[in-house]
Amino acid sequence: MKTTTLLPLAAAFLGSSASPIDVSNGRITLQLDLDLGQNAIGAQANNFGDLFTFTSMQAIHATPDQVVNETTPTGGLDGASGTFNFGINSHANMICYNITLHNFQGEFDSPANTATHIHEAALGASGPPRIAFPNPEPVEGNEAVRNSAGCLKGPFVTGVVMEEKDTGEGFHVSMIEANPSAFMADTHSSLALPGAVRGQLA
Ligand SMILES: *[C@@H]1O[C@H](CO)[C@@H](O)[C@H](O)[C@H]1NC(C)=O
Ligand SMILES: *[C@@H]1O[C@H](CO)[C@@H](O)[C@H](O)[C@H]1NC(C)=O
Repeated sequence: MKTTTLLPLAAAFLGSSASPIDVSNGRITLQLDLDLGQNAIGAQANNFGDLFTFTSMQAIHATPDQVVNETTPTGGLDGASGTFNFGINSHANMICYNITLHNFQGEFDSPANTATHIHEAALGASGPPRIAFPNPEPVEGNEAVRNSAGCLKGPFVTGVVMEEKDTGEGFHVSMIEANPSAFMADTHSSLALPGAVRGQLA
């Protein structure tokens, strides 16, 4: 059965090419072709309401002064700032992101697959990346404003191996919802390896 429907909230992983999407007010609205015959709905989402709804949202202001190496403040990347907006769907183990960086400099640099992450780390402490997001790219050629937006669905892979397994292995977004302040979002620069900007979830 192929339907064309206007749905509140749609996820990029469904493969819709529709645009633009806007998650800034907590809802995504876009036209999408949904082929129900292909069982596009995630196995853990039993109905549309489960999939097309965020179970929680996070809006994080990331700054250089929150960056630490272990527990020592590094000052991050002076002059940079970031907005990390997340919509979490714990039914589908999915996280949608809209990340904007201002005045990022240097190259994205991290041992992980990308340099833009959610880490499991309390305020003022360090910890492993659990999710690696695509690095923000210059908006309309403007190096001073960079953005990446979309959705990721577990299983998550960070590319960082600790204790013989990927630090994303076994991670579920419900773990963020269970204790948000145990997590932070950041991005790493070649000019500020421990982090350029960082913000704590709450
Ligand atoms: C991301 O958020 C910004 C506001 O911070 C908004 O202007 C932009 O449209 C959003 N992008 C997407 C793809 O939702
Ligand atoms: C963090 O600090 C340690 C000890 O000073 C140092 O060896 C290490 O290179 C630093 N890490 C980064 C990413 O700068």
